[in-house]
Amino acid sequence: MATHKLLLLPGDGIGTEVMAQVKRVLAFLEQQGLASFAVEEDLVGGAAYDQCGLPISEEAMKRAFAADAILLGAVGGPKWANVPYEARPEAGLLRLRKDLQLFANLRPALCYPALADASSLKRELVEGLDILIVRELTGGVYFGEPKTITDLADGQKRAIDTQVYESYEIERIARVAFELARTRRNKVVSAEKHNVMKSGVLWKQVVSEVHGADYADVSLEHQLADSCAMQLVRAPKQFDVLVTDNLFGDILSDVAAMLTGSLGMLPSASLGAVEELTGKRRALYEPVHGAAPDIAGKGLANPIAMIGSLAMALRYSFGEGALADRIEKAIAGVLAKGFRTNDIKSEGATVVGTGGMGDAILAEL
Ligand code: NAI
Ligand code: MG
Repeated sequence: MATHKLLLLPGDGIGTEVMAQVKRVLAFLEQQGLASFAVEEDLVGGAAYDQCGLPISEEAMKRAFAADAILLGAVGGPKWANVPYEARPEAGLLRLRKDLQLFANLRPALCYPALADASSLKRELVEGLDILIVRELTGGVYFGEPKTITDLADGQKRAIDTQVYESYEIERIARVAFELARTRRNKVVSAEKHNVMKSGVLWKQVVSEVHGADYADVSLEHQLADSCAMQLVRAPKQFDVLVTDNLFGDILSDVAAMLTGSLGMLPSASLGAVEELTGKRRALYEPVHGAAPDIAGKGLANPIAMIGSLAMALRYSFGEGALADRIEKAIAGVLAKGFRTNDIKSEGATVVGTGGMGDAILAEL
């Protein structure tokens, strides 16, 4: 059995609380002989700053480069509101994303049947929903130069952001989307605005070329990003994999996520390129939520987003899709039995804390 090298970075606030539940799941999988892990743990965010004055140490960065996958809890909190800008907790996470070149952000929007009534849409629209948004994370308008605000002669000001995409950036994210579609329902929608943006023209062209050359077996549809937003709330089940740029992906992934539940339910992955020598791909998995200082230390946090992030690591980094399915089934199972943390509670539910939800998921596993 292969031993998977996993680096745990619990971070701050509820990050440490939800990570504690992941450790229990890892221990269970090992005890049952289902998987083998070499687990290391280090600090990130405010916790790292308190220890070494940096939001992530060089030692932890080395470990991150050596790991097959990283699981991160969350960073931040009011305690570090006044630390220098470069050392703020979020900078630790940004450095990991940048140095490991994690250009593909995966955000599943999965509707657990037991929570279908909690959606803002009607049950029949979201029941069985299973979308994977693939967002380009390291290019586009958030990073393009020039990026300025200047004073004009007449007292007016001018702000400039620049959308820049090179074909290699579009090609590599398109490949990730097509590869993932092959492991799912074999369908990709690509969203851009080729009608008004040059980067959209290039996006559409490169995605089509990659498709024609290597992925003709996958169904591909191009949608304009605004129309895509409309389709996401009108008939979300038409989507399987949705690939888009950094800005549109930021917005569309939040829309899709909220079709299905609370922040405490949403996992994510950020993937880098496949290395030629090893065939491995750098990857960081984390819940979408933050450190939640309002509930930190109270044992109230929902650990499902964090445990779901472990399931994604098993599926996308470790080739353990069956184990990932099993964890997601266990989550669906405890929800069907009525177990709820505070953030997703409903009438008649059995309200449990972080550890109680961990107990229920382990029992279900
Ligand atoms: P947040 O996601 O930490 O919390 C927003 C709201 O959702 C809070 O009311 C919180 O109690 C609730 N919530 C979040 N996760 C939950 C869970 N697992 N179970 C139950 N309830 C949950 O976002 P907020 O409050 O804007 O930021 C708090 C701190 O976290 C800030 O320092 C922020 O910079 C940082 N942050 C870190 C992120 C990360 O590490 N990736 C992402 C977002 C924020
Ligand atoms: Mg966002």
